Amino acid sequence: MKAKEIVTLQRSLLVDTEKLLNTQVEMEGTSSAYYLSMASWCHMMGYENAAKYLYTHSDEERMHMMKIFQYINEAGGHAFQPEITGIRHNFNSLREIFELILEHEIAVTKSINNIVDHAFSKKDFATFSFMQWYVTEQREEETMSRRALELFDIIGEEGVGLWTIDQELGKLHAAAHPQV
Ligand code: FEO
Repeated sequence: MKAKEIVTLQRSLLVDTEKLLNTQVEMEGTSSAYYLSMASWCHMMGYENAAKYLYTHSDEERMHMMKIFQYINEAGGHAFQPEITGIRHNFNSLREIFELILEHEIAVTKSINNIVDHAFSKKDFATFSFMQWYVTEQREEETMSRRALELFDIIGEEGVGLWTIDQELGKLHAAAHPQV
C-alpha cells in the first residue's frame, strides 16, 4: 500500500472534499488580495472611508481563508498556501469597485454552496456543519455589498455625491464593525 493511501484511510475527509476546500482557501485568499488592492486604490484616490471598509474586508477574507486552512489540516488533510497572482491594481471608479465586490461575493456564495452540497451528498456531516458558518457569512456579505452599491443610485455621483457616498460607506463600516 502506498503511503498516501494509508494516510487517507486514517481520516474521514475525502480526497475530493479536501481538493474543494483547498480551492476555497485559494478563493478566500484571492478575495483578501483583491480587496487589499481595492483598498489601496481608494486610499490613494482619497476615499478614506471606502479604504477603511476595504482594509477591514481584506483582513476578514484572510480570516475566512485561515479557518478553512486549519480545518483541512485538523481533519487530516494538507492545506496548501495558494499562489495568488494577477490581482488588478487599477480601477475606473469607486462605483466599479463596489460592482466588482458584489459580483465576486456572489461567485464566492456559489462556491460555498457547491461545497455544502458536496459534503451533504458524501454524508460528510462534519464538513457540512463547518461550512454553515460560511453560508451565514455569505448572506451577510452579499447584503452588505448590495447596500454599499445602492448608495451610488440613491445619492448619485454628481457634485458632492462621491464625497457623501464615502461618508455613508464609513457609517456602513462602523455599523458592521463597531469594534474597529
Ligand atoms: Fe469570504 Fe467574502 O468571502
